[in-house]
This record gives sequence, structure tokens and C-alpha cells, in this order.
Amino acid sequence: MEILIRATPEAVAKQAADIIAGYARNGSVLGLATGSTPIATYQELIRRHQHEGLSFAGCKVFMLDEYLGLDPQHEQSYARTIRREFTEHIDINDADVFSPSGNSKDPLAAAAAYEQHITSEHVAIQLLGIGTNGHIGFNEPTSSLNSVTRMKTLHPQTIQDNARFFDDAEEVPTHVLTQGLATIRRAGHLLLVATGASKAAAIAATVEGPLSAMCPASTLQLHPHATVLVDEEAAAQLTFREYYQYADQNKPAFQRY
Ligand code: F6R
Repeated sequence: MEILIRATPEAVAKQAADIIAGYARNGSVLGLATGSTPIATYQELIRRHQHEGLSFAGCKVFMLDEYLGLDPQHEQSYARTIRREFTEHIDINDADVFSPSGNSKDPLAAAAAYEQHITSEHVAIQLLGIGTNGHIGFNEPTSSLNSVTRMKTLHPQTIQDNARFFDDAEEVPTHVLTQGLATIRRAGHLLLVATGASKAAAIAATVEGPLSAMCPASTLQLHPHATVLVDEEAAAQLTFREYYQYADQNKPAFQRY
């Protein structure tokens, strides 16, 4: 696992944009996340598209997860959120932006169909945020490390964390469809971004804790190309930070990103 510690959330966003831009130029399949953390990265990528000629032509997007029971047009659905925050502002074909169907009458069939669809593609890079409880996608603690796309019940902590996007905590859907941990691990490169002190414990558990379903993000330890990109606050509980910084500053010339 590669650990990159940057001084500020802005520097994290720039670094994440550098990494994603490398894949976008090749017309790759991009796995994207919602939530507040990636927004600055999306804004930086939009800026590069508008002012520096970065093109996403030929790219496809697969989203990590979706709330159950929200219409795709609902402002807080993840299908709508990714369009509003990112894909409507770049040169990507809207028909090539895919999410699990959160308003399906048969969520189990919708989950299976999404898993099948994503399996038929090669996701080159998967961008991930992390929950304060260590979730990635909506794989809450105790999610099987071998899970695939399925329905999950949100943890009350996640509902509380996400209530800020809704008028009322009561409006946050209690169920979701999410890519599983095995689905996520099939991407060629996993890029987990985290900023702020509230993520410090989850980042320490992900990087330095045991591989465990109690910290779903620790599944990154199983991946051959995983990057954890954090600001100083999110790095605060890492005990090996000097080593990570040393490795970052002494990267071999062939190393990607
Ligand atoms: C969103 C997602 C979630 C978030 C996580 C962190 O698609 O999959 O795992 O990445 O809840 O959210 P923020 O960035 O809002 O702290």
C-alpha cells in the first residue's frame, strides 16, 4: 500500500486529480464515489477540463453505491449527485455514467444486474472515500471481504454522518445498494482519499490495523495497487508516518502516478 500524506485538503485534491487524469486521458473506465471528500478533486478535474484541455472522451463511469428508494432525479440520489458535482461539467457521455438502480422494485435483482455489468468491464481506477467507521462504498463494518454488489442496511452512525445532505435525519434512506469489497478490489488501482481529523482513526485502522471485516477499508491491504492519500489531519494517528514520507520522497523512477 502506498501512503501519501499532503499538507492540506487542497493538496490532496490536486494529487488525486493528477492520478485520475492519467487514467482519463486513456479513455478508461473510472469508478467514482460521492460524499463530500471527492468534491474538491472533481472541481480540480473540471478546472483542468475547462482550462487545460483535459478530456474524458471515451471514459465510462461506474458509481460505488446508491440509496434505495430515491428516484434517480432526487437531488440526493448518488446518480444525480455525481452528475451535478462532476460529469455534467466534463466531456463524458451521460449514457456512460452507471449506478445501481436505487428505485428498482426488485433491489436484489438490481444488485445482481449491476454486479454483472461491472464485471463485464475493467474498472481502471476506483476512487474511494472512507466513513468514520471504516466503511468504503456502503460496506459497513462486518461486511464480508468477499462481498459483491448487494443490499445493505446503513449503520445509524452513517445515517447520522449523512444527515447533513438532507433536511432531516429521518429522510436519509436506511438501505442502499453497494458494490461489495470483492467488486471494489477488482479495479486495477484503488485510490482512497480522506481529509480531516474525523477520519484519522479509520485511516490508522485501514493502513496499520489488522485485515478485518470490522474495518472494511482494510481490504485495501489485499490489493496490489492501492494508494491512500490523506491530509495531515487524517494522517494524525498513523504511527509509521515517517516511513511513508520517506518512501514517498524516494520513489523509484518507474513508479506510476
Ligand atoms: C459514497 C461512499 C461513502 C463515502 C464515505 C465518506 O459514494 O461510498 O463510502 O465515501 O461515507 O463520505 P464523506 O466523504 O462525505 O466523508
